[in-house]
Amino acid sequence: MPSQGGVTVTWLGHATTLIDTPDGKRILIDPWLTQNPAVPEDRKQIDRLDLMLITHGHLDHTGDAVAVAQATQPDIIANNEIAGWLGTKGVGKATGMNHGGTVEWNGIAITMVEAVHSSGITDGGETVYGGVAGGFVIRFANDFTLYHAGDTDVFLGMSLIRDLLKPDVAMLPIGGHFTMDPTRAAAALRMLGVTAVIPIHYGTFPVLTGTPQELELAAGDISGLKVVALKPGESVSQSDLI
Ligand code: NI
Ligand code: MN
Repeated sequence: MPSQGGVTVTWLGHATTLIDTPDGKRILIDPWLTQNPAVPEDRKQIDRLDLMLITHGHLDHTGDAVAVAQATQPDIIANNEIAGWLGTKGVGKATGMNHGGTVEWNGIAITMVEAVHSSGITDGGETVYGGVAGGFVIRFANDFTLYHAGDTDVFLGMSLIRDLLKPDVAMLPIGGHFTMDPTRAAAALRMLGVTAVIPIHYGTFPVLTGTPQELELAAGDISGLKVVALKPGESVSQSDLI
C-alpha cells in the first residue's frame, strides 16, 4: 500500500484496522478476519505484520489474534489480562499494559486509554476475564496522531485525551447497541477536539444501526468536520485526513 510519505490507514471492516507507516512497518488493530462478515474475501489473510494491538477481549476484536500471531510473529500490545491469555495459547511476545501507560515501539508512542465497555474473552464456550476494555492513541514518528477508540461509549475522559495526547484523527464506533451511536459520537468529537473521524463498528450486524450520514448530521455544528466513511478494505492516507 503506497503511503505517500505519511501514514496509511486501511479499515478492513468492523473495528479491524491495518496501518502502514512511512518506514514500512505494518500494524493491525483488533484482528477479526475469517468470521468477520464485513471484511472483503481477499483481505481476510494477513501475510506480514510487525505489531498487533488489541483493545479488548471480545470475540469480534480478538477472533483471529492467535492465528495471525502464530502465522506472522508480530509484537503484540494488549492489556495485562489479554496478554497473559495469549501466553496460555502459546503466543509469547505479548506486552501487557494498562490505561495511562505509553509503550514506545520503533519510534511510535502507543498510549492505552480508557474505554467504557467490557472485555470478557470467549474461550471454548467459557468467558475468561479479559481485564478492562481500552483504546489506543498512536503517535507516529512524524507526529501524526491517531486515536482508535475500540468499543466504548462517549466518556468525560475524552477531554483529557484531547489535552494530553492531541489526536489528529479519531476512529470511533458509531453503530450503537454495544457502543456509542452517532449522536453520542458527535459529543465525543466535541470533547476530543477532532474534526476528522473514521466511523467504525457499524453495519456489521443488523443491530448496529448507526450510519456515517447520521454522524454528519449530529456533528454538523463542528466546523471543518470531515467524516471519512471508508468501505471495508479501503485506505486513506494521512494527507487526506489532516
Ligand atoms: Ni466489544
Ligand atoms: Mn465489538
